[in-house]
Amino acid sequence: MVKNLQKDNLNGDQIPEKMVQVSDNEEIRDSIHVVTGLIADEGLNLVIAHCTGCHSAQLITQNRATKEGWVRVIRWMQETQNLWDLGESEEAIVNYLTKNYSPEHWGRRMPLKGIEWYELEEGEN
Ligand code: HEC
Repeated sequence: MVKNLQKDNLNGDQIPEKMVQVSDNEEIRDSIHVVTGLIADEGLNLVIAHCTGCHSAQLITQNRATKEGWVRVIRWMQETQNLWDLGESEEAIVNYLTKNYSPEHWGRRMPLKGIEWYELEEGEN
């Protein structure tokens, strides 16, 4: 039985059919779209198409936000940076961002849950 293969197997050059190909270099390595550094997931190509024209995708990959936070960033860019109306794509883009770049997902392979933080002791002598 080979189910969920498509969804889980993003490591090779397999890209879910749903994704529309928009750029020449679609190489995905280790679940990362090599050219942009964005996580390969549903909605990736919409994000590439709408979100990498004015600035590097690093602004996305180096940020984390909740759904509300991402919508706020988008609204801010729309109000002040001439970002266009994302129309029907907005939902897919926000879902992609929330799923892959939310505060709980600082590292996909290293979920922060379960890590025991300890306090650095200051002035210990
Ligand atoms: C029309 C141009 C334009 C487009 C398209 C655009 N942005 Fe931006 N964005 C900007 C500008 C300008 C800044 C400010 C850059 C800076 O401060 O260096 C920015 C900043 C950001 C920041 C940093 C915000 C912060 O608070 O530091 C993020 C995150 C971001 N954009 C994400 C996105 C996402 C996601 C999309 C796609 C939905 C997108 N951008 C599309 C113009 C754009």
